Amino acid sequence: MAAAGSAVGLGNIWRFPYLAGQNGGAAFLLIYLAFILLICFPVMVGEIAIGRKAGLDAYGSYKKIGGANWGYLGLFGILGCFFILSFYNVVAGWAFGYFLEITFGSLLSEKDFSSFFGSYVTDIGDNFWFSLGFMVITAFIVTKGVQKGIEMANKIMMPMLYIILISLIIYGLTLPNALAGVKFYLVPELSEITPQTIFDALRQAFFSLSLGMGALITYGSYVKKNQNIVSSAAIISVADTMVAFLAGLMIFPLVFSAGIMPSEGPPLVFIILPKIFHDMHPVVGRIVGGSFFLMLCFAALTSTISMLEVPTAYLVDQKKLPRKSVVWLLAGLIFILGLPSMISQGVKGFEFLNKLTFYQGKDFLTFISDTADMGLTIGGCLMCVFISYRWKINNMNEELSIGNENYMKSFAQKYISFAIRYICPLLLGVMSLLIIYDKFFGLNNLF
Ligand code: PHE
Repeated sequence: MAAAGSAVGLGNIWRFPYLAGQNGGAAFLLIYLAFILLICFPVMVGEIAIGRKAGLDAYGSYKKIGGANWGYLGLFGILGCFFILSFYNVVAGWAFGYFLEITFGSLLSEKDFSSFFGSYVTDIGDNFWFSLGFMVITAFIVTKGVQKGIEMANKIMMPMLYIILISLIIYGLTLPNALAGVKFYLVPELSEITPQTIFDALRQAFFSLSLGMGALITYGSYVKKNQNIVSSAAIISVADTMVAFLAGLMIFPLVFSAGIMPSEGPPLVFIILPKIFHDMHPVVGRIVGGSFFLMLCFAALTSTISMLEVPTAYLVDQKKLPRKSVVWLLAGLIFILGLPSMISQGVKGFEFLNKLTFYQGKDFLTFISDTADMGLTIGGCLMCVFISYRWKINNMNEELSIGNENYMKSFAQKYISFAIRYICPLLLGVMSLLIIYDKFFGLNNLF
């Protein structure tokens, strides 16, 4: 449950729809699903297996199984968590602010939600306090230890999230022009597939499943020996993919019915959803809209918890530091690291962070998020190399058989072994190089 909570988050509801919207809708969805099945599922199984085998944090696990040098791979992931959480917490702060403004404020009486969002993210006061609040709640829960709080929250949050998503899908389908949105999302135009579609689908799949940065190694270290890792990984992948899929099915009919561009980018859900809640009866809008953003906050919270847990576990396991102080220290540092992302959305006096000259004129938040994404696919690639050449596939399979007696004879065993040995490292290696090249020089210059 906790790992599913880590996976389901802003990635599913905020990032998946806007990336799909920018990349041709159905074409993106198709490639995304293929990556989940072909690459992400085996990588997830591998990560959890490493964590359970070693029973330590990301650094400690690699080091225990593979020796000191492999420990650096764990450190690389821990650093990735640091950066991801820094900007993720800013976006979570937006969601938190929207929850409060919709439920208790006057947000729904606005007229133009696009310009509202534009001015909202430059309101440094609100953003500062909301994201600070979010970080404090995250840190508080992490000081209590991962399992207790999260599993409880998830048991209530996940079903609620599904109910709200499905209700909004049904509602959306009744609106005029909704079918154009369904078509955009479900009927692929293969001619729309570009290298960008493929790269974005891959990095999004890794991000959404919390892969490639040691989060699942850390959580794997808490998994009991009688548990079946393969079926747990299957449940996590399916639950996460379902939420992303439903989020898309909710957003695109609404987008097409409201006449908004699906390629709106990061503001997409912050523009379209308030508009829909605005069009409802005022009280209903407040309740449905407020509940939606509250669920989004919960989903984000179970993810931020997992990100803060990764460096915490490292410092507690390796440096023997007290958990409580470590958590607050890390939370403070990561919050500070997030400040440039927070003010990079066009705050007066900081316009340079909104248009980075060295990064094709994009903003700092996008820069950090893209850079961290590169770490995920590289981390995933190296993890496969680690399993194949250092730990050895047979030893991984032995670990996977614990709690799953029939594993050795199963199709899953053949498929996971083959994928981790050949498909994943190869595809992830090639794609990571192409993604890096594309980000800094533009792929068009290569061909
Ligand atoms: N998977 C989370 C989401 O979709 C984000 C995340 C990434 C969490 C990496 C932990 C580690 O929102």
